[in-house]
Formats: sequence, structure tokens, C-alpha cells
Amino acid sequence: MQSTFTRLRRLRGSPELVDLVRESRLSVRDFVFPLFVIHGRGKRIPVDPMPGIYQISVDRLASEVKEIRGLGIPAVLLFGIPEHKDSLGTEGVGVDGIIQRAIAEIKSAAPDMVVITDVCLCDYTDHGHCGILSGNIVDNDKTLRVLSEMAVSHAEAGADIVAPSAMMDGQVLAIRKALDSSDHTTSPIMSYSAKYASGFYGPFRVAAESAPQFGDRNGYQMDVSNRRQAMIEIEQDILEGADIVMVKPALAFLDVLKEARERVNVPIAAYNVSGEYSMVKAAADNEWIDGQKITRENLTSIKRGGADIIITYHAKEMARALH
Ligand code: PBG
Repeated sequence: MQSTFTRLRRLRGSPELVDLVRESRLSVRDFVFPLFVIHGRGKRIPVDPMPGIYQISVDRLASEVKEIRGLGIPAVLLFGIPEHKDSLGTEGVGVDGIIQRAIAEIKSAAPDMVVITDVCLCDYTDHGHCGILSGNIVDNDKTLRVLSEMAVSHAEAGADIVAPSAMMDGQVLAIRKALDSSDHTTSPIMSYSAKYASGFYGPFRVAAESAPQFGDRNGYQMDVSNRRQAMIEIEQDILEGADIVMVKPALAFLDVLKEARERVNVPIAAYNVSGEYSMVKAAADNEWIDGQKITRENLTSIKRGGADIIITYHAKEMARALH
């Protein structure tokens, strides 16, 4: 038996000492801020379940992204809400679609902003599913063609990174091939590899107006119970050509993030999703918790869990707090 004990408190004697031996540090340079872009002019519409988050029209993006860049945040992730939705998600691939216009606007206002685009059909389809339907089933291989077309149109419009999130099998390979054969060999893919069929996306579906009109996403997104299967998803995406892989949601799946970190060597992004954000905001607004302290703790946990990139709606407020 050990006759003495270790005085771990020795290194907790002052804030400076604590800081000196700190193992994980949050940095604004790891943050990605999601943006919801809408048609129209002069619009900045609050998203009800996500206090502090807005749907923003293209003409107001310039000031928005200048502010984001000014805070030191290097990247945005774009979601577009189309004028018209249809069964094929037509506006998603059009040259004059909402995302294509948003990319151009952002690039002219803040040329050094890294623009990442969500490649998925759910914002653009009238049925709200992430792909093309055959009957009531999302048809994997038909969807691959549209996702490829969408990714190429984003790259063509100037996106720096395309981020497929539809959870179709083979989507990374299909998109890689399409990018390569259209002169976009240098466009990176950030794949939403381990994306769970999560209840935490609820507030996002209000923001993106993308809730499925029937059924759910269990036929393509992962069962929340599975960790080993996430490793297959991630390893498969890397083989198909993903440059960055993602675990989503982040906080409820830190075990998945940590295991992925131990297994693979590509950069890993973690998506601190809408429901995770809304819960903190709701509790903080009621003064049940200290919002800033909890946000810092949540984001630090994501970092400690192994994320290189943190996609978060808290990016702006946390950038201010870290300054
Ligand atoms: C699109 C997509 C979703 C999210 C990101 N991309 C919604 C979904 O799968 O229903 C969720 C992000 C969030 O909750 O913040 N497929």
C-alpha cells in the first residue's frame, strides 16, 4: 500500500499555474459558424428555438461575414433555404440557387473566409428528405447523382470545402469522382461521416425549414446506439476520399469522437448541433445555469475529446469571450 499521496492541488494554486498546465485550449481558429441563407432583401429573421441565430438574406451577408471574420472565426458553413421546394430539390443544383449566390456574395465581401457548403437535399425537397424518393424510400443511387451535381455547382460557385450530409452510401466517392472530372481536383470534402438520427436536430429543422414531411431519417442516418458502426462509416469515408470526417452531434457522442481520434489521422470535425445549443440558451435565459461558463465547458469538452474543428452556433459569442 502507498504510504503517501499525490498533491495534485500543487498545480492548482493560482489561475496562472492552472493555465500553464492546461491540456486543452479553445481557440477561435478552430470554429466554424453555421449560416442560414434566405431569399429576399434586408432580412434578418430570428430563429425562434435558437436565440441569437437568424435566417439572413443574401444582401445582408456581407456585413455578417465581415463581423464573423473580424472576430477571428475562419470559416462558415452554409445552409440555403430555396424559394421553391420540389420533389427533386431542383434549386439546390441551379447556378442561381440560394447557396450559389451566397457563396459569391461572401467571397466578394470576405475573400479569405473559408466557405463550407452543406451538400444535402433536405432543405430543397418538398418532402423534406435528404434524397430523391422511390415510393416512400430515399433512393440511394439516384440521390448520389444529384449530390454530385450539387457539390460540383458549389465548387464552381467558389466554395472552399463541400460537406455532404445526406448519409447516402457512397456519397463521398461519387462526389470525389464528380469534382475530379470537372476540374475541381483541389476541392476538399468534409464528410458528415458519423451522423446520427438524432433528436438534437429539431431546432435546426425550424431554421432550415427542412423537417421530413412523413416518416423519419432512420433509414439513412445512424442509430444512436452504435459506436463500432461509426468507425466503419468514418473509415469508409476516408477510403472514398474524405479529407475531413465529422462526428455529429458532438456532446452526446463524445465517446465516438474520442474513439475516432484514436483511430484515424485525418482532421476530425465535431458538430455542436442546434439542440445542444438551444438547451444551453433556454436554461441560461431562465438563469438556471451560467450560459457562458457552460458553453466554454461544452466546447472545451469537444476539444478534449479530439476535435480539430468545432462547428458551433456559439462561435461568435465564444470568440468574444476568448478575446
Ligand atoms: C442536413 C443537415 C441537418 C443538420 C445539418 N445538416 C439536419 C438533419 O439531418 O435533419 C443538423 C444541424 C443541427 O442540428 O444543428 N441533412
